[in-house]
Amino acid sequence: MQARNPCSILPRRLQIVFSLAALVVFCIFFFGTPSSYDLPSVEKIQDTVQHIPKPKLPQLRAPNVYNPFRTATHEPPVQANSTSGEAKWFSDWKWRNPFSSSITLDENRAVLPPLRKRPPIYTFYDTTTKKDEETKKGEQRLLLIWRRAWWAQGFKPMVLGRSEAMNHPLYQKLQQLKLEPAMEVEVARWLAWGNMGTGILANWLTLPMAPYEDALLKFLRRGEYPHLTRYEGLRSGLFCGEKIAINGALKKALEATDIKNGLSMIDATPQETFKVDPQHNSVAFYSLDTIISKYKAVAEALTASQAHGLEATAQLINAHLQTTWQSTFSSGIAVLKPLPEHTTHLVAPAVEIARNLSQCPESPIPSSCPPNRPKCKPCVSSHPMTLTTPQVFRNTSTLFTIGTVPHPYTLTSLHHTRDTLDVRFVRRETERDVWLTTATKELLGTGLAGPSRLVAFKDAVASEWGTAHALWLTAERESHADLDWLFGFSVPRHAADDGKSETPVPGPERRPPPPKPESPVPSAPELAREKDLLDKARSALKNQARPMTMLKAAVEGWSLADAEAWRFARAFSARRRVERLKWEEEERAFAGAEGRGAGTGWGRWFDRGRR
Ligand SMILES: *[C@@H]1O[C@H](CO)[C@@H](O)[C@H](O)[C@H]1NC(C)=O
Ligand SMILES: *[C@@H]1O[C@H](CO)[C@@H](O)[C@H](O)[C@H]1NC(C)=O
Ligand SMILES: *[C@@H]1O[C@H](CO)[C@@H](O)[C@H](O)[C@H]1NC(C)=O
Repeated sequence: MQARNPCSILPRRLQIVFSLAALVVFCIFFFGTPSSYDLPSVEKIQDTVQHIPKPKLPQLRAPNVYNPFRTATHEPPVQANSTSGEAKWFSDWKWRNPFSSSITLDENRAVLPPLRKRPPIYTFYDTTTKKDEETKKGEQRLLLIWRRAWWAQGFKPMVLGRSEAMNHPLYQKLQQLKLEPAMEVEVARWLAWGNMGTGILANWLTLPMAPYEDALLKFLRRGEYPHLTRYEGLRSGLFCGEKIAINGALKKALEATDIKNGLSMIDATPQETFKVDPQHNSVAFYSLDTIISKYKAVAEALTASQAHGLEATAQLINAHLQTTWQSTFSSGIAVLKPLPEHTTHLVAPAVEIARNLSQCPESPIPSSCPPNRPKCKPCVSSHPMTLTTPQVFRNTSTLFTIGTVPHPYTLTSLHHTRDTLDVRFVRRETERDVWLTTATKELLGTGLAGPSRLVAFKDAVASEWGTAHALWLTAERESHADLDWLFGFSVPRHAADDGKSETPVPGPERRPPPPKPESPVPSAPELAREKDLLDKARSALKNQARPMTMLKAAVEGWSLADAEAWRFARAFSARRRVERLKWEEEERAFAGAEGRGAGTGWGRWFDRGRR
C-alpha cells in the first residue's frame, strides 16, 4: 500500500516534454519576439526588469565563493557574462526564487508536502449472516457514514469481514467453542483485527464527534498505541492497540474457562488486559442502549421497522456530525473575496457551499445532541452560522475559510473586465500578484512582494491546521464532488422553498440567505458580464493552441506568485482526490474478497454515482 508519487501520473517522458515546453515558452517570452504576440523588445525587457521587485530571500551562494583556489570557470556562464544585464537577472531570478523549479506543472506537484500517513481504523461487518435487502441497505448507509467521518478526520477506515477473521490461526479454536452468536461475532471481530494488526478497532456506530485537533483524535492519528486501551463508557465501541497486545488478549480469552458466559472481550479477559481511558469526550457510540435512552423517536422507528429505524439512525448521526462541525466554527464561514468589484460570480460556488454547510441538517430529532456532548448547541434555522465575504484571509481557529483561487489570466480578465488579454496590456496596465497580495494583506502586512507571501499561503492550504480550517477551490474547476469526504458528513443539497414553511416534521430545512454584501452589489447585466468573462477565461485556459499557451505563460510570468498559488491549490486538491479514489479502489478489492454477498452489492458503498 505504498503512497503513489503524484508525479507518476504523468509519464516520465511527458514530464520532460512539459519542462522543455515551459522553458521554450519562457525563453521566447523574454528573449524572442514573434511580432504577432506583441512581445517586448530587449529595451523594453530591460526597462521592465528594473521594475520587477526581486524576491526578498537569502541569496544562495555556493560554499566555495571564498575559496582562494576557485577559478573563474567554475562560475555559472550567465553570471560570468556581466555585459548582458537581463541574462544576469535571469540567472539571479532563477537562483533566488523559491519556485524556480516549479515553473512546470509536474515539478510544481513535487512541492506539495508529503502525504500524511493515515492510521488504519477497522470495523467488522459480517455479511455472512442473513439479512433482508432493506436492512442491508440501511446498514450499508451507516457504514458509508462511518467511513466518511473517519476519513475526514485523517484516518484510513477499513471494513473487515469473516474472511479476515478466518485468516487468523486461532479461528479454528473459536469454531470448536460453539459460543452464543453475539459472543461468537465479538471474538470473530477481534480475530479479524488481530489478523490485520496494530490499529484501532471501532464499532461502525462509533463516530468521531469533535474538532480535528481534539486531543484523543490527535493521539489516535499518531498511530502508536503503547497499551491495549479501551474507553470508559464506550464498552466495545472503541479499542486501540499493537498487534502483539491484541493477539495476547485473544489468546487469554480463548483459554479462559468462562468465555461461554461472557458477552464481550472485556468480560472474557482479565481486568489488567486493558488500560482504561476515563476522560474523553470526542467519540460518540450510538449503541442500542444509547439510542433507547437518549433518542426515543429513533428507538420507536427501530421497533416499528428495522429498515426505517436504520434510516432514522443514519440521519441522526449525519445531523450530529454536521452540527458538531458547525459548532467548531463559532465565528462562522468566511468566503474569501479579495478583489470584490468584479468577482461576485467567481466566488458564487464558494458562497453556495458556505450556505449549504450552514444549513441545518435534516434530523429525526433536530434539537438533540450527540451522546458525547450533551451540552451541544443544536442548529437553529433562525440563527444560522455567520457568513461573511472578507477581502483578507484571517487565521482564526473558530473561522472556516473557503477560498477561490483564480488563475492570473482569469483574475486579470475579470478584474479589468476584458474579453481578451494581450501581453502589452498585462505588463503595462496590471499589477503583479494582486490576488495573493490582497488576500494576505492583513496576515503579512503590505510591505512584502508576492513570492514572499507564498509560504504563508501554502501553509494555509496544505498544513494540517490549514486542511481542517479552510477549503481552497480553484476558480476554473466547475464541480466540487468530494465535499462530503472533506467535511465528513453529507452536506445538505436540498432546501425547502424559501417560504416560511418551517414544519416540525423532519424534511428539508430552509437554506440560510447569502452573506450580506460587503462591497457594491453588481447589477444583473454586470453579473452576466462576469459570467461571460469567466466562461471565456475558462475556455481560454483550456485552449492548447500555441498563441494561447504563450499568452498564458506570459501572464503567469507576470504574476508568478499568483500563478504558483493557483497551481499549488489545484495540485493540492487534485492529490487529495486521487488519494481518496485510490483508497476506494483498494477497499473495493478488500471487500470483494469477502466471497458470498460481494460483487455488485458493494458498489453502493463507494458512492460511485457522484464522482
Ligand atoms: C556574453 O556577452 C557577449 C556580448 O557582450 C555575447 O557575445 C555572449 O554571447 C554572451 N555570453 C553569454 C553566455 O550569454
Ligand atoms: C494559523 O494559526 C495556527 C495556530 O495558531 C498556526 O499553526 C498556523 O501556522 C497559522 N497559519 C498561517 C497561514 O499563518
Ligand atoms: C447546495 O444546495 C443546493 C440546494 O439547496 C444545491 O442545488 C447545490 O447543488 C448545493 N451545492 C453544493 C456545492 O453542494
